[in-house]
Amino acid sequence: MQAPIKLKVESPSNIAIVKYWGKKGHQLPMNASMSFTLSESKTIMEMEYTYSPTFSLEFYFDNEMNLKFQNKIEKKLLEFSEHLPFIKNAKLVISSKNTFPHSTGIASSASAMSALAFGISKIAVQLNLLAEDQLQVMSSNLARLGSGSASRSIFPFASIWGENKYIAEASNEYAIGIGETIHPVFKTLQDAILIVDDKEKAVSSTVGHELMNGHPHRESRLNFAENNLKLLLDALRNGDFEQFSKVAEHEALDLHSMMMTSTPSFILLSPESLAIISKIREFRALTNELITFTIDAGPNIHVLYPAESKVKVELFLENLYNAGLCKRIIKDKVGSGPKAF
Ligand code: DP6
Repeated sequence: MQAPIKLKVESPSNIAIVKYWGKKGHQLPMNASMSFTLSESKTIMEMEYTYSPTFSLEFYFDNEMNLKFQNKIEKKLLEFSEHLPFIKNAKLVISSKNTFPHSTGIASSASAMSALAFGISKIAVQLNLLAEDQLQVMSSNLARLGSGSASRSIFPFASIWGENKYIAEASNEYAIGIGETIHPVFKTLQDAILIVDDKEKAVSSTVGHELMNGHPHRESRLNFAENNLKLLLDALRNGDFEQFSKVAEHEALDLHSMMMTSTPSFILLSPESLAIISKIREFRALTNELITFTIDAGPNIHVLYPAESKVKVELFLENLYNAGLCKRIIKDKVGSGPKAF
């Protein structure tokens, strides 16, 4: 009888610059997306594996048994077992928690699904069922089945998920790391999340992606995203923060304009979100500081700036907070991807 395998996995969320919006087939993206891997906003998952003739899962969230999450995770694991059959004979006890609060616009599905995928793939490596050099591809592929954006959390600094004209090795099934090709300025990127509204108001990803089916601007969105990816790749390579800012803002606002012109239509930006955007642009015009923003499917604003702009930008953000434009600020930055102990 083999001794149980115990692992502690930490896996981060990520923030997309070119947005994944719209699916095709089974969990495949309509367009290629690019994101930065975060460092502070992460899921910490303790996993214990023992061999068993039949599959079983015990799942705890924040130290309490959680049957709703348990059912979800069980379904995902059984889907993963098509790629890693040993899961069918696994007795798993998993205990998970996040370092960030719920409903802040930080993608908890990205950190949780990447943690689950990375952890189970690591167990496969320890059982000699998966080669170490296949760990990232397998984890990213499984993470994608859990939640599309989670496929991008597996890599240090930055990654790309989805086939595109510019990177031959890119795939719809798993993301690839591009951390080694980006200019050092982007490796110090800070992400301060201005929480405008912490009530659950965002469009769920299932509903959101469906809005792209039959959308009147679908084709133009897909061309725009592909072109933005090219501009972004050049900006990342050359350390061109101005071009990076243009792409980040166009993508964030295009995501929202797609939602506004969808059927049904969603307006998720609040007056405070718009005021923050104006203030950022005003501050940038006045000071020439390196600062930009992105937004996911909700009202909260991710303010992006390199470490060199930290002092001045954070003073400016404090003023926005003092003016009552946001309820709190969560500070994060680019990080080095999942770890297992
Ligand atoms: C707006 O990855 O949450 O954050 O695959 O259905 O789980 P599912 O969707 P999800 O969608 C994320 C959408 C987004 C943009 C992005 O992260 O690229």
